Amino acid sequence: MVFSISKWRRRSRASKANPNSTQFQHGDVEASQSNTQSALLLYAVRQPYEFVTDHPIPTSKRDTELLVKVLAIGLNPIDWKAPDFNFGIPTLPYIAGREFTGTVVQAASRTNSRIRQGDIVIVPSTDYRDLRKAAFQEYSIASSFNTIRLPRNISTQAGSILGVAFVAAALALGICMGVSFEDIEGGPNLLKLVRSIDPENLPADIRKECLEGIRDDERAQKGDFLVIWGGSSTCAYTMKQLARLAGLRNISVVDSSKHGLRLSSRDHIRPDLLVDAHDPERAISIIKSATNNSARFGFDTQGKETASQLLRSLASLHCFPNHPEEYSTSKLNSKLPTPPSTPAEANPSAPRSHLVGLTGLPKGNVPEDVALHSVPIKLFHEIPEVGEALCSWAERLLVKGLLVPPDVLGTVDGLGGINAGLDRLRKREVSGGRLVAVLR
Ligand SMILES: NC(=O)c1ccc[n+]([C@@H]2O[C@H](COP(=O)([O-])OP(=O)(O)OC[C@H]3O[C@@H](n4cnc5c(N)ncnc54)[C@H](OP(=O)(O)O)[C@@H]3O)[C@@H](O)[C@H]2O)c1
Repeated sequence: MVFSISKWRRRSRASKANPNSTQFQHGDVEASQSNTQSALLLYAVRQPYEFVTDHPIPTSKRDTELLVKVLAIGLNPIDWKAPDFNFGIPTLPYIAGREFTGTVVQAASRTNSRIRQGDIVIVPSTDYRDLRKAAFQEYSIASSFNTIRLPRNISTQAGSILGVAFVAAALALGICMGVSFEDIEGGPNLLKLVRSIDPENLPADIRKECLEGIRDDERAQKGDFLVIWGGSSTCAYTMKQLARLAGLRNISVVDSSKHGLRLSSRDHIRPDLLVDAHDPERAISIIKSATNNSARFGFDTQGKETASQLLRSLASLHCFPNHPEEYSTSKLNSKLPTPPSTPAEANPSAPRSHLVGLTGLPKGNVPEDVALHSVPIKLFHEIPEVGEALCSWAERLLVKGLLVPPDVLGTVDGLGGINAGLDRLRKREVSGGRLVAVLR
């Protein structure tokens, strides 16, 4: 079913708050007087976004879709990297923006939706190919199963920077590392969930990851080590919280002069071991020694090079000598390692290590007992059962304070302030949190 603007106007006069939602925020639903809105359009790569005032307000196409008036937008690295490096732009002109909070001005027509008109919601907008769902506009479309109601204890600004990091961390842990969240506020067992779906309904490019990415006997369990390389990033911030809830021990590799004190002084993100990234060889040596070469799970937030270093920190019979003293005296470069001097026998039934790269993975020379993974992010918007399970779980975690949003490091004024905000990201002036664009 498709909503028309006039229908939204009629409905909006009688705002219906969800009666079972006293823990969540609600806002006034103002009817728009126009079919057009302000938006930021990208007309060409390597150009700034252009502010326009006559872009059509998007309309819903499915009975699960709702219309949201955007209140605050979290600025993500992809918002400047995509135009600068010409990737992830399916069409021009393009509308970017991957996460926001806003007020639901038009609910989904499907009546059993968690989300009602007037709810203030967090929207992780992972579906970058659908411009209707982008954040850099006054009104945006969201699927109800991709929408998280904003609890009273969280501001609209803080809520606007939580979504993408939450989805990425939850899918990395739940799918790539096989963590079940069932014991944490009734969270999902994502691997079981996707494996119960007809494989034909899983997107072809992530089907193998979902069905064969990790064996049941390899799934991460309480007490396992998770090494996070790039532990200062926003995704790492969320990853640490979920991993800790799941009982994993986390090792965070960061620039400790910049981030050490901040990460060590907060209970919800304090690592079990903080390792300085300045000398990668030393960092690898510390991790292998501290874990007795038993860390089987890795999460890299920075890129191919750091992912290669992370690979060498993980348990493998092939990757590196087991004892740091075997290589601490030799001069090692940043290339992937040579095999240990005594060739180890591969045991195909032994549990493998698993490395998830958010933004790049090592190429070649990967030991056969380490599996590499990219986050199957599209599960969130393409498989409603996954989106709904994650969003309703996020609500429970947020209400109980078990999930804390990252830090808002500053704000910019409206859509018009976004280009300047993204310039600050380009210049590496934003670290340890996010900037937020606040709309009126
Ligand atoms: N595959 C997926 O589905 C997916 C999902 C989410 C994110 N990502 C990608 O994963 C990466 C991490 O995302 P995030 O949101 O967690 O990142 P973030 O919090 O914005 O920043 C990550 C780190 O990058 C460094 N950094 C910041 N600005 C930089 C610049 N201009 N040049 C070089 N380094 C810079 C910072 O390190 P310092 O603090 O030490 O300066 C920061 O801690 C990004 O590349 C993002 O696009 C991928």
